[in-house]
Amino acid sequence: MTLVSAPGKITLFGEHAIVYGEPAIAIAINKRVRVHATKRSDEAIRVEAKDLVLAGFKALLTPSGSITLEGESGKILAALSYVKRAIEVVRERYGVNVGAHITITSEMPVGAGLGTSAAVAVSVIKAYSLLAGLDLSKEECAELGYRVELSVQGRASRMDSITTAIGGALYIDPGKERFYEVIKGAEKLKGLVVGYVNREASTGEMVGRVKKLRDSIPEVLDLVIKTIGEVSRRGKSMIEAGMVEELGTLMNVNHGLLEAIGISTSKLSQMVYAARLAGALGSKITGAGGGGCIIALAPKREEEVIAALKAIGASAFKAELSSEGLKVEEA
Ligand code: PMV
Repeated sequence: MTLVSAPGKITLFGEHAIVYGEPAIAIAINKRVRVHATKRSDEAIRVEAKDLVLAGFKALLTPSGSITLEGESGKILAALSYVKRAIEVVRERYGVNVGAHITITSEMPVGAGLGTSAAVAVSVIKAYSLLAGLDLSKEECAELGYRVELSVQGRASRMDSITTAIGGALYIDPGKERFYEVIKGAEKLKGLVVGYVNREASTGEMVGRVKKLRDSIPEVLDLVIKTIGEVSRRGKSMIEAGMVEELGTLMNVNHGLLEAIGISTSKLSQMVYAARLAGALGSKITGAGGGGCIIALAPKREEEVIAALKAIGASAFKAELSSEGLKVEEA
């Protein structure tokens, strides 16, 4: 039996621009996904999601490849594909084939832009590899998790899988050989609030929309994307220097640039402004957009911001940086 957990994350700066090679800053939060795995006597994999927002699906994958499902099939298949692929990458890479019963729970909404698919993939990789007698490092699990995201979504950056594996606040620069760096001083960032509404489009669709816009006016979009990269660079120094108010302003600038690349919706913009009016120092979309999440920086004004977000029909919760990434809770 193994129990493994991994955190969700918010993107403070740089989503979408990272797909074009610019740096981004992601922060692991104190909401986790848990994966419990036990061995089976045969080679089948049974997957059960206890309280994911797409609650209550059960599936049986037999060695012959047939899948039995109970529940809402579209969302089930989407979530299941990350689990299935995570097990396949471990089987393919290390030539193992143990059967497993896997149970997944999540403390946060799934598929909302908080990196839950990476947290699920990386946790399943760790839990399943432990069952198979392997002890993979956090970085190895992140790398395999990235491959899972890539094959399920078609396009992905390494941001979500490395953040959930390592924890803390990471500066991710895809152009560098050592592509991530833990940002010092980020634990001083207090007062984060996440607001969310249902997604209208998937991450893949949103990445595709940005590409289409860029293809139509590259000379304009490339400047916006580069500017977002500059926001991330400046954001890193501001975190290190503890410049909290200035970080809020920079989040507002980043939101404007995300509006410019066409990933906001009227509901997301409404949430961003509601948070600012309720006293946030800054607020922006976090993640791919097209519905999903916003993040507000509102030290000492968390409750007011949460109330303002709820008043316009969104869900909201406080989030804290978690320095704990992928963790084996029981082996
Ligand atoms: O909404 P999420 O958590 O899947 O974030 C997507 C972030 C993008 O930069 C748009 C894509 C990526 O893989 O980095």
